[in-house]
Amino acid sequence: MKAWTLDSTDAGIRLEEVREPLVRDGGAVLRMLAVQVPSYTRVLTVGGRGGIATPTVLGIGGIGRVEAVADDVHTVRPGDIALCTGFLATGRIADPEEVLLGWTGIGGRGTPSAATDAMRRVWRTGTFAERALMPASTLVALPGAERYPDLARLAFLPWLTVAAGAVERSALSPGDRVVVTGASGQLGGATVLLALARGAGRIAAVGRNSASLEHLAALDPRVRPVRSFGDRTADAAAIADALGGDADVAIDALGPAPTADLTMAAFDVLRLDGTMVLLGGVRQTLPIPYDELMHRRITLRGSWMASNETAYSVWRQVEAGLLDLTALEVITVGLDDPDAVLTLAEATNGLSFVALTP
Ligand SMILES: NC(=O)c1ccc[n+]([C@@H]2O[C@H](COP(=O)([O-])OP(=O)(O)OC[C@H]3O[C@@H](n4cnc5c(N)ncnc54)[C@H](OP(=O)(O)O)[C@@H]3O)[C@@H](O)[C@H]2O)c1
Repeated sequence: MKAWTLDSTDAGIRLEEVREPLVRDGGAVLRMLAVQVPSYTRVLTVGGRGGIATPTVLGIGGIGRVEAVADDVHTVRPGDIALCTGFLATGRIADPEEVLLGWTGIGGRGTPSAATDAMRRVWRTGTFAERALMPASTLVALPGAERYPDLARLAFLPWLTVAAGAVERSALSPGDRVVVTGASGQLGGATVLLALARGAGRIAAVGRNSASLEHLAALDPRVRPVRSFGDRTADAAAIADALGGDADVAIDALGPAPTADLTMAAFDVLRLDGTMVLLGGVRQTLPIPYDELMHRRITLRGSWMASNETAYSVWRQVEAGLLDLTALEVITVGLDDPDAVLTLAEATNGLSFVALTP
């Protein structure tokens, strides 16, 4: 079969003929139907987002049709359309460990261990391919998906699931005033969609790319675009102005920003008892005064990946029409020219994304 492989972070991504994956204990083989190519995929392939277990077929997330399951697998059945999360956990309750397959990412403190090495060795698998062998615990059956009119749009489900994890952890309530920093990115755009579906009263969608922000604002009058000035005080004032007061919830979905200023601008407008969830890729230290966190009784939470239950709930929201994926601009591509696809993906943001339909 055809697949995009990565031999090392010096080698670059390549289209190759590789052996068809065969089903084995604990796993299922899927014919991949649609897989999102995140905008930062090229950066990731050269090691710009942390280590990757190589050589590997690259790629995380996506939906596929289940072709074969091992005798001990019951999470999915042959013929199902299923979501691949690529998110594998040891399941050891005492000291859990988690990894991403076909991608970069080790959970917790990010330190490899014997367990994470073994998981990434045994399941050296990615979804930028015609077929993929995946561990059963990373698959979520999507009953009814076969009737969805445009399967390429469902390639965004994994990103929506990650965003939904953050929205759940924020405990957003209907009517809440929400600020999403990095709303102009794909994860931020997904977060805005989820917050709308959950009944947010007003959303300050903060970013730099005006076209992305205007696209979000056109979806619903509850979304107020805020173009970042690149200055903490001015940004905090603009967010408060857009919300008509302080925020109940802040969700940060920024990419690797050079400073923590925009994240802190959102922190500055959180109300007493407000909640801030960190979801993005900022690698800066946050200058949070102990006294302020304490007196404002702020809840500060991290959000990495999401449960299979969350993924299923996202699908149910799509099926019910609460999450309207017609808002997405989908560019569909094939496997033939990985370099051109990564270039195309780099130019996408917000609610526009590249869907690989292998
Ligand atoms: N927590 C999780 O489970 C999880 C899962 C997947 C990904 N992530 C992380 O989430 C981050 C966001 O992902 P993404 O796909 O949306 O794409 P991304 O391209 O990495 O970044 C999102 C947005 O961040 C904005 N940004 C970057 N630097 C900025 C700055 N200095 N000031 C203002 N805005 C800035 C950009 O906005 P403009 O376009 O407006 O310039 C960009 O669109 C990634 O870094 C990724 O590592 C987290």
